[in-house]
Amino acid sequence: MNKQLRKDLEYTYGKLTPEERKKLSGSTILLTGGAGFLGFYLMQFFSRFREELGIRQILCLDNFMLGKPKWLDALQEDSYVTVMQFDIIRDGLEALSGAGEADYILHMASIASPTFYRRYPIETVDANIWGLRSLLDFYKERDIKGLLFFSSSELYGDPAPEAIPLGEDYNGNVCATGPRACYDESKRFGETLCMLFAQQHHMPIGVVRPFNNYGPGMKLTDKRVPADFAKNVMDNQDLTILSSGAPTRTFCYIADAAAGYLKVLLHGKYDYFNIGIEEPEVTISRLAEYYREAGQDIFGYTGEVQYAVSEEADYLTNNPQRRCPDIGKARAILGYAPELEVGEGIQRFLQYLKEDQEGEQLW
Ligand SMILES: NC(=O)c1ccc[n+]([C@@H]2O[C@H](COP(=O)([O-])OP(=O)(O)OC[C@H]3O[C@@H](n4cnc5c(N)ncnc54)[C@H](O)[C@@H]3O)[C@@H](O)[C@H]2O)c1
Repeated sequence: MNKQLRKDLEYTYGKLTPEERKKLSGSTILLTGGAGFLGFYLMQFFSRFREELGIRQILCLDNFMLGKPKWLDALQEDSYVTVMQFDIIRDGLEALSGAGEADYILHMASIASPTFYRRYPIETVDANIWGLRSLLDFYKERDIKGLLFFSSSELYGDPAPEAIPLGEDYNGNVCATGPRACYDESKRFGETLCMLFAQQHHMPIGVVRPFNNYGPGMKLTDKRVPADFAKNVMDNQDLTILSSGAPTRTFCYIADAAAGYLKVLLHGKYDYFNIGIEEPEVTISRLAEYYREAGQDIFGYTGEVQYAVSEEADYLTNNPQRRCPDIGKARAILGYAPELEVGEGIQRFLQYLKEDQEGEQLW
């Protein structure tokens, strides 16, 4: 296995308490959207620690609407892993072998890249609403231990400056009819469904609001900024910023974020959490500098930072100007404690890509 990836997975494992690890013993885990970025990391995690954790079966469902990644082939060779082409909007769970035995369910199916969800807006709404509803209906009478819905920090929209850092009690500033609405509004309604099913059917539903993850598993062509910059470095081309460079974000490395997702999954009762890192909140221009510096160290990168205009007319419409979470709730209730600041995370991500390029070539 890629050395950097192994190190990251071990870091994530080390973030779980013995009690949390024990909860996975004997369990069957079902993931939707398992072929995506977060799916890659979590599938690698469950597969790498399957024995230590005593996991019985891992079921990975995806409709492969943006293609089937190569790395799934290697995982599929493991007899404890089943990968299936399955559309959570249309296909019935009743007929799916193993679905009824799942103890933990992670609903990740929904394209996360703004460029691609704008291309598939109705599919995005359907995955977050009908796909989720199908899972909730199927599992409401079953004895499950946890169901995790991947919402988004996008549910806060373009926040008022005084709302930063964003706590879970901020209600958001979202445009219902803009080009991002298919994503933001369906995450919001998905959260409402989770709340209602938890109340009426006493389901152990966890909801996470991820704040800008990056790292191993991110497809470099998927048009999210950390992927664009990584691709620029790999191609030794200038780092191209498609905005003024002024909007700010906090970027949370996948090895930290994944620990947060697992903690919410294993929490065992209904609640919702911001999962990200509080600092540093950096401009996109500063993010590009981090990539330039790490690229020089790791690849001997020689490109510069440049500014351009996206070919996509709606690229910047309703783009949040700031995004920075308050993660005090996850810290206090779950002991979630991310440590990898963005400079270190980018070093790790590029190191992973270098080893991937030299070795197995997972993508
Ligand atoms: N990565 C982040 O920083 C981030 C931030 C906020 C929210 N999220 C949420 O986390 C989840 C996973 O994010 P990601 O970055 O891995 O996304 P991704 O776009 O990389 O992967 C999504 C996967 O879902 C699959 N999919 C889409 N519709 C489907 C359907 N109807 N049936 C089955 N599979 C379907 C796609 O084929 C893809 O493999 C998403 O729900 C996303 O909205 C992620």
